[in-house]
Amino acid sequence: MTSMNLIVVFAKANVRRNDSRMAKIRNFLICLTSPKGSVVQSLNQFYYTQSLHPRTNPVEIVSSCYNSFQRFHGGGMMLLELAKRRKTIRKFKEEKPPLSSIIKAIEVAKEAPSGINSQPWHFLIVKSEDLKRSIREICEEKEKSFHEKLSGHFKKWLADRGITWKKPFLSDAPYLVIVLCDKTLPFSKESVWISVGYLLLALEEMGLGTVTYTPPSSEELMKLLRIPEKFRIETILPVGYPDDDKKKERRKKTEEVVSFEEFGGRMS
Ligand SMILES: Cc1cc2nc3c(=O)[nH]c(=O)nc-3n(C[C@H](O)[C@H](O)[C@H](O)COP(=O)(O)O)c2cc1C
Repeated sequence: MTSMNLIVVFAKANVRRNDSRMAKIRNFLICLTSPKGSVVQSLNQFYYTQSLHPRTNPVEIVSSCYNSFQRFHGGGMMLLELAKRRKTIRKFKEEKPPLSSIIKAIEVAKEAPSGINSQPWHFLIVKSEDLKRSIREICEEKEKSFHEKLSGHFKKWLADRGITWKKPFLSDAPYLVIVLCDKTLPFSKESVWISVGYLLLALEEMGLGTVTYTPPSSEELMKLLRIPEKFRIETILPVGYPDDDKKKERRKKTEEVVSFEEFGGRMS
């Protein structure tokens, strides 16, 4: 039985009441069994099409099902599954996810810890086609000269994956989430990147894909987007429904990245 099916079993057990609202919710939960359906993608569609009373927020129902599932499955397993499933997405469907999904993911990201709780992040969402096109043009121009200078392992790694100076995802993705870091605050870079990690997993949970794109230079982007000088662009996350069949890159084994007592020490 897949994780998704198990969640639905828990969901049905939680949703025993027989009024029409609950029936709608039950139908919705059944649609989660569809292999293509991701929990929150379906959830958002459901939320908008069924015009539920705001107090019957399906997010809460599903998350309570998740919690039951997690208790059954052994704490922490859901996060491991999510992390294992997440991969970089560089191609996106045209269909636009609801903006509310992006905001929800940012709500997760801003819960990240930060040095002296300085919360040095800012998330700039761009959805205008004109702006996305301009951002792509600026980045591709810098990428051209960056790629000309490449050599060795890095050059081969990119070539093997067909990664060139062209960055179509900057204009094809329905949204760009530009992650800014307030340079004036302590431990700002470290903190912002923790929030990026949260954001990536939150997007994955919602069935959305992204690539952690790091532009070679950001001066012109700063001007275009009127970003105050105290900020730095850490990454641009193009976000949308995934349409990329590339495989997730191989990860090292746990024992390759863990030592005990001293570097290289094995668990006895
Ligand atoms: C800090 C950072 C910078 C990255 N920069 C880029 C980038 O500029 N362009 C790109 O296509 N992918 C970029 N990536 C994505 C990585 O190439 C990708 O995460 C890695 O190859 C593992 O692939 P996977 O996420 O599919 O497993 C970046 C990832 C990180 C964490």
